[in-house]
Amino acid sequence: MDSTSLGTVISTIDSPTTSFFSFVISSPNVRKGQFVQTRCEDGMLFGTISEIMRANRYFEHAESVSEYEKGSPMPQNFPTADWEYVIARVRALGVYKEGRLVRSIFPAAPGSKVEGANEQALKELLGFEEKGLNLGKLQNHAIDAKFNLTRLLQKHLAILAMSGAGKSYLCGVLIEELLDRGKEQGRIAVIVIDVHGEYLGFKSGQYARQTQIFDGKKVRVSLKNVSPQMLFEWVSELSSPQKREIALLLKRMKGKMKEKQETVGLAELIKEIEASEMKDNMKGPILSWLAEINSMRLISKGDFPKIGELAKPGTLSVLDLSDIDSLKKKQIIVSYFARRLFLRRKKGLIPPFLLLIEESHNFAREKAPKESAISKSIIETLAREGRKFGASICLVSQRPVQLSTTALSQCNSNIILRVTNPFDVKHIAESCEGIDNYAQNAITTLRVGEALVIGEAASHPIFINVRKRKSKHSTKGEGLEDSARKFEEEQERKEKDVEAFI
Ligand SMILES: Nc1ncnc2c1ncn2[C@@H]1O[C@H](COP(=O)(O)OP(=O)(O)OP(=O)(O)O)[C@@H](O)[C@H]1O
Ligand SMILES: [Mg+2]
Repeated sequence: MDSTSLGTVISTIDSPTTSFFSFVISSPNVRKGQFVQTRCEDGMLFGTISEIMRANRYFEHAESVSEYEKGSPMPQNFPTADWEYVIARVRALGVYKEGRLVRSIFPAAPGSKVEGANEQALKELLGFEEKGLNLGKLQNHAIDAKFNLTRLLQKHLAILAMSGAGKSYLCGVLIEELLDRGKEQGRIAVIVIDVHGEYLGFKSGQYARQTQIFDGKKVRVSLKNVSPQMLFEWVSELSSPQKREIALLLKRMKGKMKEKQETVGLAELIKEIEASEMKDNMKGPILSWLAEINSMRLISKGDFPKIGELAKPGTLSVLDLSDIDSLKKKQIIVSYFARRLFLRRKKGLIPPFLLLIEESHNFAREKAPKESAISKSIIETLAREGRKFGASICLVSQRPVQLSTTALSQCNSNIILRVTNPFDVKHIAESCEGIDNYAQNAITTLRVGEALVIGEAASHPIFINVRKRKSKHSTKGEGLEDSARKFEEEQERKEKDVEAFI
């Protein structure tokens, strides 16, 4: 980067200190958020511009400005332009010494020159890697923001922003980077819970061969892998004796399956109960309870998709739940597959994976009644224990306030895009370590595609411009004009068809 001087460190009442210094600007290329460096006794001191102030002695006193301006504008009579100066306030990040950043223990020297941060040093300072995941450009610098895979994902990632800020777009960029990795770099499996069909675009274009889409309506779970407790979570309403009876029945059934080496589904279980000599007051409720489970069309003789099929290295699997209306059914699917993935991963039967959950506040809600918290506990378990086993999650949400704090607080990397709701901003500031006032204010003014990356992923909070997608980004939100036009065109076409037929 340019090593030309940006200005000179000045001495003010409260700076320089070990944490702040100010410099008077001598270049037009100075921007808020930019990284700068200045040489000091301990080595090269790095910092980031947290504020820029403009001042002019001629305009300092209200009464004199008011008085002089009664005649003619001050610049006509005074050399006001010559007295204007700009001061940048810099937050010191640390001193770069022998290849690493250490806390600055002595202030910058007044009078020393300030330069734009050296590119190579800045990359090292922020923890960027040549072969890392390229999510975009570091703001104010011509540097690709390439994050180390482990640091970004291992201890989980949360992507938070208001609706339309670019969360899914960014997830698309992240997935592209994961799919672009070669075997020797280490490829993980990516599984996406897609509630709006926003990831179907991966099936066309350059990632088509690495993408598999599973239609939510065809998803099935194997009776063999369903425990009675899971069933009781799905549909409550049973009394304790009834629960005991069901647990016994299932156990017997599974025993039989093992013995005969055959698999059965819910229909067989129901038949067996119907034929049994169970008392009617027990049989009736159990059968109607099972009928309710059966109506969900979820339980079958085998899993679809199979877990090994769902998690393959360097492959994106999209569970497209956009056609399922029932939140409960969606939660059951997430809960079942998340559990199975974790179990299989613990045994080393599937590759390390990233489970990306869109609208995650609906799957791990902070204050959810028991019946709609079906997937919450497994998501929290993954958040707490997944890192040890290479089972990572990425929680995407536009309502962070409603997201389980247990899960959110375990996400050590956070990417925050535009958020304007003050409650959400406050919640994010509380749950993400390292957000200072500057970053907190900045997230309300971010534009679409601008993001704050904070936590484990980068050694220091940074702002990036998310890069353009290589694959197609399918959006659910087409403009009202387009939807209205399409509707009328479709109606006219239908009418014409009918006329032609008559
Ligand atoms: N980095 C970017 N560059 C260009 N366009 C972008 C970028 N990020 C987002 N967009 C555009 O902004 C729109 C909204 O983005 P996106 O669908 O990702 O929002 P979202 O945060 O997922 O919203 P929702 O919460 O409603 O799902 C899209 O039309 C997308 O094309
Ligand atoms: Mg989205």
